[in-house]
Amino acid sequence: MLFLIAVAKDKSMTDEQLLDLARAAAGRAYAPYSNFHVGCSIESVDGEVVTGANMENACYRLGLCAEQSALTAAQHKFGLDKVARIAVSGGSDATVCTPCGGCRQAILEAAQLSGRDVEIICGSGDGSGVERHRIGELIPFGFGPANLATPA
Ligand code: THU
Repeated sequence: MLFLIAVAKDKSMTDEQLLDLARAAAGRAYAPYSNFHVGCSIESVDGEVVTGANMENACYRLGLCAEQSALTAAQHKFGLDKVARIAVSGGSDATVCTPCGGCRQAILEAAQLSGRDVEIICGSGDGSGVERHRIGELIPFGFGPANLATPA
């Protein structure tokens, strides 16, 4: 039993490591219009990790947030239902970057599919601030796939 716990722990990285990956991903953002660079990393229940960054467009409204970019990668690599933990880092000062409303909704989709109140580690762009939230706290009374489930 102890051995199993040790193996499971080895698979997952620390919050700081996951946040470092988000910060590194922000460095690959394409954000020439806002100049606000955001990165996101997502860890699966099996310890797999994907990252994404915001990608803006000359047609401003077509811009893609970092979280949604990373969620797309997560679906492709291991499935939304395996999402366990998410880290987000954005901006360049001490203000902690929390997911926007649309991204909260997108994370809720994964959370309800997985049945987990997914943890979101939010960091400031300068690395000085960190906040930990659960998706249920960031989007209370949310509407998700569970609301659409047809009773058997
Ligand atoms: N942005 C994200 O990528 N994620 C968020 O949760 C907040 C906002 C991006 C969108 C846009 O490219 C830039 O940050 C400024 O809003």
